[in-house]
Amino acid sequence: MSGPDNNFDWDSLTFSLTKTEKMYVAECNQGDAWSPGNILPYGNLSIDPAAGVLNYGQGIFEGMKAQRTANNRVILFRPEENARRFQRGAARLGMPPVPESMFIDAVEQVVAANSSWIPPSGRGALYIRPVLWGTGPIMGVAPAPSYTFCVFATPVGPYFKGGLSAIDLLISEENHRAAPGGSGGVKAIGNYAPGMMPSKNAKKQGFAEVIYLDAVEHKYIEEVGAANYFCIKDNVLYTPELTGTILPGITRESIIMLARHRGYEVNETQVSAEFAMTADESFCCGTAAVISPIASITQGENKKVFGVGGVGVITRELYDALTNLQTEINEDPFGWLHEVNLNLALNISNE
Ligand code: PLP
Ligand code: COI
Repeated sequence: MSGPDNNFDWDSLTFSLTKTEKMYVAECNQGDAWSPGNILPYGNLSIDPAAGVLNYGQGIFEGMKAQRTANNRVILFRPEENARRFQRGAARLGMPPVPESMFIDAVEQVVAANSSWIPPSGRGALYIRPVLWGTGPIMGVAPAPSYTFCVFATPVGPYFKGGLSAIDLLISEENHRAAPGGSGGVKAIGNYAPGMMPSKNAKKQGFAEVIYLDAVEHKYIEEVGAANYFCIKDNVLYTPELTGTILPGITRESIIMLARHRGYEVNETQVSAEFAMTADESFCCGTAAVISPIASITQGENKKVFGVGGVGVITRELYDALTNLQTEINEDPFGWLHEVNLNLALNISNE
């Protein structure tokens, strides 16, 4: 793997894997403290077939973006929040939490080691994928004896086809994403495979994704696939409250803060599907999805179409506010941007 060639077409990037040059790997035994890992050539890992992650899904991941700004700095967006969520996820799945400083150092090293893959400003991002797996062998259903923390990266474009064009969503009548007391509130790898068939079936019917309702009453909106949900009615924003079954998205929290800063009222509350079908605008959000406007929501025989073309005025305002802050077109009053020094020293290993 080498850097992109001169003709590399950044504008044709989608949300898919382009292998980059380097990755970061650290290992730790259960009960020990983490020691910093190394930067290695990107490539296959060797793993025991009895690894906890392969048999029992003991793993978590994060998703982050490094972006070039209008000032040609390379920034991460609130990486300490990802580090903390990664720690909460590790604790929930019985894995040794990676210290926040080690997590951020690993991410910075991976960005610096793959800097030629960071797209030009405004033309995509370097998506960073930190993962923590129980890689030690275990037969009983119990925490693995050892763990691997790996960080790799890939340049990406828009998550949903068509950038800021609005998407059509289907409310899932058969499947739920998470139940109270489960693992819906952390980025457990096992939360994602059960969503693949519902999502694939929805795509076959022409929808971009499914909306999941709560597993208890099948009434309240939880999430849009791997993104959080917002709707706007009479200039007030509504988003599902954090009850442990939905992922506390960093984009979600940032939008709440940005919207309040701009004078909007934001309610974190139960948002019924019935209410959502009466909203003026709606969108979903996440690191990969950014802010994706929703053109329509279908539930059974009912279809609600939002506005003309689906990109509502407030949705567009928030999209501009968030992305202009992230690319330093606007200032960052919250101190959310974290610059990466591309010349930082790398812990290179040629193993
Ligand atoms: N919900 C789920 C299930 C996700 O996987 C993600 C992605 O990380 C999000 C929401 C959005 O979270 P964030 O904004 O932190 O990327
Ligand atoms: C993200 O938004 O970073 C995600 O993790 C979503 C998805 C690609 C799983």
